[in-house]
Amino acid sequence: MRREFTNGRNLCHPGVTRFATNFLSLQSFVLMKNELRQMFRLETGSLSTWIDKDQGNSFKKTKSVGRIAMTVAVNVSRFEAITMAPPDPILGISEAFKADTDAKKLNLGVGAYRTEELQPYVLNVVKKAEKLMLDKGENKEYLPIEGLAAFNKVTADLLFGSENPLIKQQKIATVQGLSGTGSLRLAAALIERYFPGAKVLISSPSWGNHKNIFNDARVPWSEYRYYDPKTVGLDFEGMVADIKEAPEGSFVLLHGCAHNPTGIDPTPDQWEKIADVIQEKNHIPFFDVAYQGFASGSLDADAASVRLFAARGTELLVAQSYSKNLGLYAERIGAINVVCTSADAAARVKSQLKRIARPMHSNPPIHGARIVANIVGDPTLFNEWKVEMEMMAGRIKNVRQKLFDSLSAKDKSGKDWSFILKQIGMFSFTGLSRAQSDNMSNKWHVYMTKDGRISLAGLSLAKCEYLADAIMDSYHNWQFILSSMSSYWQ
Ligand SMILES: Cc1ncc(COP(=O)(O)O)c(C=O)c1O
Repeated sequence: MRREFTNGRNLCHPGVTRFATNFLSLQSFVLMKNELRQMFRLETGSLSTWIDKDQGNSFKKTKSVGRIAMTVAVNVSRFEAITMAPPDPILGISEAFKADTDAKKLNLGVGAYRTEELQPYVLNVVKKAEKLMLDKGENKEYLPIEGLAAFNKVTADLLFGSENPLIKQQKIATVQGLSGTGSLRLAAALIERYFPGAKVLISSPSWGNHKNIFNDARVPWSEYRYYDPKTVGLDFEGMVADIKEAPEGSFVLLHGCAHNPTGIDPTPDQWEKIADVIQEKNHIPFFDVAYQGFASGSLDADAASVRLFAARGTELLVAQSYSKNLGLYAERIGAINVVCTSADAAARVKSQLKRIARPMHSNPPIHGARIVANIVGDPTLFNEWKVEMEMMAGRIKNVRQKLFDSLSAKDKSGKDWSFILKQIGMFSFTGLSRAQSDNMSNKWHVYMTKDGRISLAGLSLAKCEYLADAIMDSYHNWQFILSSMSSYWQ
């Protein structure tokens, strides 16, 4: 059935039609040219020789119309129907940043940690773990489909707490994935296969790739209210109402901590109420945990939302990433965990996740998995990681405070910038519009996502004053321009 659907869709694709039309017109052109050649041969030998001397001519050696058509088709790309894809909205920002030659430029687009000197950072504990791994001289054999057993154990321990009975009762199916993105994608495929038609509810706004992931897995999704532009805070009432209204048995995608892009998390009380509604509606919570430990500086505090749901006995999914908290961006290390009500169900779910992973990436990469397993499995290295994570989270908190102080000191308009301090994690949602964000990059060389998000991990204390000037100019001047334009049109 699936194959028929796909083929049918491809046949109807406008690009395919265009390719077919091009091919046919080429064929007619070839026929015409062949007729001309025959004509010239009959009438003037010299003209015929002139045509045959045409060296770059792909028809030269062709004898039959059929063969000619085949030869010409080679000159037209078989990929003619493929149009240019738009640049990725987040990764495209880095390209624009690289091309900017201004010395004051700042890249606040990508969520990657930078030092105070704005340089990429490799954690010391990661370097130590890598050295140990090198000394051991481990091989590079394939991992099993589900990943490195030692990694799968520690990743579930970190998330749920090593003493969590769910672990001992083997009610959690854990499979290593290609970081957060790949783990979300495995879960999306599981939903598509075993919950046909079920919807995933995504916060509005959310990390841009969520929609891509579910679109590619052909899982229907809709959005629930999350951000309130009036308060630059959480629209809790809207969120709860939308979750309540969704068809029973929907998957609710929740950011475990440090919501991306807003930096706004529910309070513990609000988490309880969200859990109530999800249980009432028989929905399935689906957590995306990309910043554990990186938001508050504490691994346990940042896992509180997931543990709250797990303690209620609800079945849930959790995708994990070690890109940010261990700085292992390019190692692509993460996991998908499915909490089930029985060990038997967990074993079956795990077997199906492996079945999904096999044709996707066959088996996951080993290097990052070993780093995580070695750090978390060694008490000294584990403590060193915690200290370093606190340092990173602390630097971001300091920058957040300094940005707020700079804005409050400079801005005499009475605007309240305190929402910046209420946000958590790597990002701040400034409330700047698209036009204002464009002004930030065009005039101030500050690169950020067009939804008004800035990554504080890419900011230094030294650059806070400059950024505050850029934000104020973009906010107040563009506010004025936009309101005068709207009054002109009225
Ligand atoms: C909310 C969220 N989920 C998942 C990811 C996945 O990141 P990665 O695939 O690098 O682990 C990110 C990265 O920015 C994110 O912000």
